[in-house]
Amino acid sequence: MAKLELKNLNKTYNRSTIPVKDISLTVEDNEFLTLLGPSGCGKSTTLRLVAGLEEPTRGNIAIGDRDVTHLKPGERNISMVFQSYALYPHMTVYENMASALKLRKIDEDEIKKRIVEASRFLDLSESLMDRKPGQLSGGQRQRVALGRALVRQPDVFLLDEPLSNLDALLRERVRAEIKQLFEQQQAPVVYVTHDQVEAMTLSTKVAVLYEGNVQQLAPPQMLYTKPANQFVAGFVGSPQMNLLTLPCDNKVAKLGDLGIPLPDRVSPQTIVLGIRPEDVRFAREEDKLTFPGKIFLVENLGMQNLLSLHVKGTGNKEITVRALLPAEVKWSGDEVTLAVSPEALHWFDSETGDRVGGE
Ligand SMILES: Nc1ncnc2c1ncn2[C@@H]1O[C@H](COP(=O)(O)OP(=O)(O)O)[C@@H](O)[C@H]1O
Ligand SMILES: [Mg+2]
Repeated sequence: MAKLELKNLNKTYNRSTIPVKDISLTVEDNEFLTLLGPSGCGKSTTLRLVAGLEEPTRGNIAIGDRDVTHLKPGERNISMVFQSYALYPHMTVYENMASALKLRKIDEDEIKKRIVEASRFLDLSESLMDRKPGQLSGGQRQRVALGRALVRQPDVFLLDEPLSNLDALLRERVRAEIKQLFEQQQAPVVYVTHDQVEAMTLSTKVAVLYEGNVQQLAPPQMLYTKPANQFVAGFVGSPQMNLLTLPCDNKVAKLGDLGIPLPDRVSPQTIVLGIRPEDVRFAREEDKLTFPGKIFLVENLGMQNLLSLHVKGTGNKEITVRALLPAEVKWSGDEVTLAVSPEALHWFDSETGDRVGGE
């Protein structure tokens, strides 16, 4: 099987909308790449360029050593799964899965074999085969759409927000199925979502997109532990990373009365400090980086609590903390001392938003 390669891909509709700006990336045949980003950042357009449903303004797309940039969609040997399922309403489940194979004149026995195999994997029972899509639940419809993509045995799989129309519980189940399913395929997968949990759980690699640009291309864990810039830091992680713009003096950032040494070599006037809510704790005796805060909101998450505090001496800067609430802390209005570890801190240039230090 072959890798998928995008080189300097651009798409412009008019001067004001540039949905895809110079995207270059490679997806190997054992990789599951997710394009993650907010609505309107160019995810679907990128996928449609790969599928051949749009012409790039500039750049190239290759599958293995085939340059497919100017091939018609049908000539690329790509399967695409859409949020809306895109099943033929007048055809049965079986016919939906078989249609592309019939067009390719694959013989009936082989078609049947592939459909039986895919259906077994996707938990689509024999009795569903004669139904029309209208007689299926949302989850079943999406499984049929996945089945239709699988039986074609394409060189590349593309999936555009395939779970978005499913309710929360079903979404988790189909997500797990998708993970198992594609772990067994030897073809590059490009998956589009705005949902960071899907991106984190499914992918071997994630490209975070913002305004048509790749902000960071990395394994999911790396996005979390070493976000390349403030956008990625704020977009990946829930609740969001705390991002505080702090004044600096002589290589020390000031969080109220607490001075925090900056990473090597930088000496800016202001810097953005990033702290994940789970990296803040209630201070213990031995903690060095501690600061006082006043709670203004307590939310119960079941296992833990989400606290919102104002950090003292910062002009009411807010910080969110995810922690187990000590027995003595009960109410909004309580004052507490919090602590962070130096190695859990993230720093970003306050002008460019780029990560500073912490390589
Ligand atoms: N056919 C089109 N003509 C003009 N603008 C478009 C067209 N398709 C998409 N866009 C614009 O391109 C941008 C990216 O869209 P899209 O790729 O659908 O984003 P996403 O899938 O990330 O939500 C949006 O601003 C959208 O309005
Ligand atoms: Mg989209």
